[in-house]
Amino acid sequence: MKAIYILALCVTLVMAKPADEIVKELPDMGKFDRFDMYSGYLEIPNKQRKLHYVFAESQNDPATDPLVIWFNGGPGCSSMLGFIQEHGPYSMPDGDPNFYENPNSWNKEANMLYIESPAGVGYSYFWDRETDSFDDLTSSEDNYAALEAFYEKFPEYLDHDLFISGESYAGIYVPYLAWQVIQNGLKYNLKGIIVGNGVTNYTYDTGKAYGGTAFWHNLYSLEMLDEIKENHCTWLNIDGVKPGKENEEACTNLYYKFRSLVSEINIYDVYRKCYTDDDIDRLGTTMINGELKTYKRGMTAREYTPFAFDDDHIDESLRLNPPCVYGSGPTDYLNRQDVRDALNVETDQPWELCVGAERINYSRGEKASYWIYPTLFENNIRVLHFSGNADGSVPTQGTRDWIHSLNLPKARDFGPFYIEDKQVGGFVEYFEGITFAAITGIGHMAAQWSPVATKHVVYQFIKDLPIDGNDNYASVTA
Ligand SMILES: *[C@@H]1O[C@H](CO)[C@@H](O)[C@H](O)[C@H]1NC(C)=O
Ligand SMILES: *[C@@H]1O[C@H](CO)[C@@H](O)[C@H](O)[C@H]1NC(C)=O
Repeated sequence: MKAIYILALCVTLVMAKPADEIVKELPDMGKFDRFDMYSGYLEIPNKQRKLHYVFAESQNDPATDPLVIWFNGGPGCSSMLGFIQEHGPYSMPDGDPNFYENPNSWNKEANMLYIESPAGVGYSYFWDRETDSFDDLTSSEDNYAALEAFYEKFPEYLDHDLFISGESYAGIYVPYLAWQVIQNGLKYNLKGIIVGNGVTNYTYDTGKAYGGTAFWHNLYSLEMLDEIKENHCTWLNIDGVKPGKENEEACTNLYYKFRSLVSEINIYDVYRKCYTDDDIDRLGTTMINGELKTYKRGMTAREYTPFAFDDDHIDESLRLNPPCVYGSGPTDYLNRQDVRDALNVETDQPWELCVGAERINYSRGEKASYWIYPTLFENNIRVLHFSGNADGSVPTQGTRDWIHSLNLPKARDFGPFYIEDKQVGGFVEYFEGITFAAITGIGHMAAQWSPVATKHVVYQFIKDLPIDGNDNYASVTA
């Protein structure tokens, strides 16, 4: 009798999804009636921290579709950006504060879990200033604890295929979390990781790759490139700079010249409109639970992607460049009381696209995430890196170069892939262990700005199908 009672109790517990975290609709966004949507918190045990999550179940078959986690980067930027602008069920386009149903939502055939990490970012919070310090390792410990907390709330997902995805600085978060899953005995069904324009190895990524990328997008002259070569400058990776003694003074000047030439270019997509301070008031105010709060509506590029502005050569005026990215619409929206209430937000802190040292103390590790890849290969975790090829902040060139430096056997030749109407969406290269897809003519937020091509790449990878549609495809799992 007792056994039956306990069994019944277990069944009830196992079936319970958190009814109090369900979200039926969001004001001025839309209803969630064709799938279930949740918003709430994942508590980190023994730490005064809670991470906010949004979980959009699959529009297809939530019971069998994979679980896909998404992280935006920064560090300090919120994954609500992915939910609201990039690949959520409704999206807000640049320059337009309204929402539209998104035909390329990633939850079409996947259960999408958006986690705002680390605590202090977005609606995630800590309640003891002592616990505001993070690095790449400790943030991955929290993300792993959050994943465990998620499975406790939604145990029916325990046996689903799991993919971990993200963009930009999530090039650190994503492999680190996969590594935590492996270190903790691979209890979950981790199949693969997916990274878009992600930081991996600073020898190749970010600023170093921008110098080369900018030249090929015609942002400085052939004469300037010749000078760069003659002076053996090392602030960029570009073919033709031969080893030799660097002329430091000349190279610093060339670097300043380069930075000033590109200062009004949208570093996140060199062909895209740059929203400036004229378009965006830097500060906004809102009432949160009866108190007047001020929040940042516009970021500087340095606040948005600090890793791209690290080096000492950059003078202060350049650090104040606008990020060019449209952030005011989502930020105003997510600071509305009715929206916060609908999302079950527990904290009074204003929501900001990205927070810096005033909110969290994050020490970025120099070793980045390159060192993790051999462990992923050994454990047959499939890897996709996709890369919008007009990004200057984590350019395609850097991603391609570090992938090539791994000297992995080629599984198939480099070639184009196609999207609807038989148009080329980009180029894909298959190595044993890594699939690398460059998405043509688009920047850092590839999923937002080239949604058809990006969703195609991501979904073909998840389904282990050929991105280029070639029938001779054989799974390239190492
Ligand atoms: C940030 O955290 C690091 C590591 O815990 C610590 O050494 C440093 O003093 C902290 N910085 C601030 C400004 O609190
Ligand atoms: C970056 O890649 C190179 C291979 O070209 C490797 O030797 C180096 O250790 C990597 N850097 C880090 C920090 O992992």
